[in-house]
Amino acid sequence: MPIANAKDLLMKAEKGGYAIGAFNCTNMEILQAIVGAAEEMEAPVIVQASQGAIKYAGLEYIAALAKTAAEISKVPIAIHLDHGTGFEQVMKCIRFGFTSVMFDGSMLPLEENIARTAEVVKAARFVGVSVEGELGRIGGTEDDVSVEEGEEYFTDPQEAVVFVERTGVDFLAVAVGTVHGKYKGEPKLNFELLEEIKKNVGIPLVLHGSSGLPGEDIKKAVSLGVRKVNIDTDLREAFVEGMKEALEKNPGEIDPRKILGPAREKMKEIVKEKISFLGCAGTL
Ligand code: G3H
Ligand code: 13P
Ligand code: ZN
Repeated sequence: MPIANAKDLLMKAEKGGYAIGAFNCTNMEILQAIVGAAEEMEAPVIVQASQGAIKYAGLEYIAALAKTAAEISKVPIAIHLDHGTGFEQVMKCIRFGFTSVMFDGSMLPLEENIARTAEVVKAARFVGVSVEGELGRIGGTEDDVSVEEGEEYFTDPQEAVVFVERTGVDFLAVAVGTVHGKYKGEPKLNFELLEEIKKNVGIPLVLHGSSGLPGEDIKKAVSLGVRKVNIDTDLREAFVEGMKEALEKNPGEIDPRKILGPAREKMKEIVKEKISFLGCAGTL
């Protein structure tokens, strides 16, 4: 299949009232777990590369792996840059075949976030690449950036209107109570705020930090207009558990494939479970 465009997937999800899973990928086994799950669930999927993944594997490797997966897969796969750092990185990713990019200006003052996001949108438009922007500050640590407790702030629904109008982003990442990584207590999402933002902006919303959320919370967020659900931590955990189990069973194992293979299987099952909350299974 040709590499899918994330905007096409999300606009279809908007009409159908469901969401697409956006799963972080660092290596071949993780990518195969994601794609294998999506194929078994007959669901479109977004594969995304974080800053950490790019540093670890190199953009060339990630892009080549993801492009190969998309081409041979039975389901539509979009390749997305997660938490992009700036115009230069976005251009590089587009050059390497990404069909979707995020510019994360959430740490910047509003005017600067708008100006830099708009610059990315303007260029990406010419080549049919979709753009995700972020407004508000999500707690926790992603990549090298930590947002300490008390420093996170929720997306302002009025600012969201201005941000979307002036930048022209295709989808908007919102801060409504999720955090990147592990939750310290129980996750508590502000669904009223989510509903208000959606009513104001109309475009597909993106929920970051969706690991650790109960399935019911994810379903509710989807019913209120979230169309892209970012999940990483829960999948990493499953992968490492799979490795540990394989090594516990056979502590003398020296074949990496016999450790990474079970890890891939374990992760695939979690991806399938996450997809089942999104409503996108069987929508091909
Ligand atoms: O926000 C996205 C990822 O969870 C960050 O992970 O350690 O691969 O950069 P990373
Ligand atoms: P989690 O690791 O908390 O699932 O967050 C993933 C994410 O938001 C990637 O952008
Ligand atoms: Zn994120």
